[in-house]
Amino acid sequence: MTFAEPDFDLLVRKILRERGFDCRQYRESYLKRRFGVRLRAWKIATFTDYVSILDQHPEEYNKLFDDITINVTQFFRDITAYDTFDKTVLPLVLAAKKKTQSNIIRIWSCGCSSGEEPYSIALCLADRLGTKINNYSITIFGSDIDDLSLNRGRAGIYGAASLENAPADIVAKYFVQDGNKFAIKDEIKSLVKFIKHDFIREEPFKNLDLVFCRNVMIYLTREMQTRLLVNFYKSINAKGFLILGKVEGLMSANEGLFERFNITERIYQKG
Ligand SMILES: C[S@@+](CC[C@H](N)C(=O)[O-])C[C@H]1O[C@@H](n2cnc3c(N)ncnc32)[C@H](O)[C@@H]1O
Repeated sequence: MTFAEPDFDLLVRKILRERGFDCRQYRESYLKRRFGVRLRAWKIATFTDYVSILDQHPEEYNKLFDDITINVTQFFRDITAYDTFDKTVLPLVLAAKKKTQSNIIRIWSCGCSSGEEPYSIALCLADRLGTKINNYSITIFGSDIDDLSLNRGRAGIYGAASLENAPADIVAKYFVQDGNKFAIKDEIKSLVKFIKHDFIREEPFKNLDLVFCRNVMIYLTREMQTRLLVNFYKSINAKGFLILGKVEGLMSANEGLFERFNITERIYQKG
């Protein structure tokens, strides 16, 4: 299928005008693939046809947004990254808190999908701190643009496949199993605040010790990646950390902002 550019622009502008959703944040090739999925579903050939479909069936917007925001995720996705986070990064964060006599820990999971990422962070913290967790005021912000995913996160009930990478002792300790469903316990749930937030249009969260933004930037244009990384720089406290996905990294324009803490795991530290 070939795409006529004026039609593509027309569609992108329509979505922005009518739903305030700025598709231009995503790489064009990625966006065209996602639009293509919807065109095939409707058995139509052009973006102009799809504009008419959106006019006639406004509920199609939900399907489209569902297709654009790929929500694939898992608990402890990339186990080595979580291992480094748990064994190396967290002890440094906690030592810094001790030094500054602060008990406030603020973490942002940006593009958190259905909550597996912020809950994995919470599980690491809870397991490391034990009963000492009560000495801290911990907030893990889980933000996403997708309501459906956020509601799944708020419900905190997962199938066994989401937990494939999770250590068995963690599952046994912090989940309640009911048949093939696993409900996360309230003590973990209470550490995570799910918030609808569009990182392109809205102000970033502030005063953060850590930002996780994993498997999100790959879908964005270079310009958006650069902008997002500058926002993270502004959001993260001195000596705080940024953890990106396995195939993501700093853009050349952002090289000076962070030090490479562990390049294999894409972990960066603010100077
Ligand atoms: C592939 S998931 C990544 C989930 C998780 N971080 C992980 O690594 O497993 C990407 C998420 O980014 C979210 N997303 C995409 N664009 C966004 C935006 N502009 N603002 C907030 N979230 C966005 C999508 O809705 C989706 O849930």
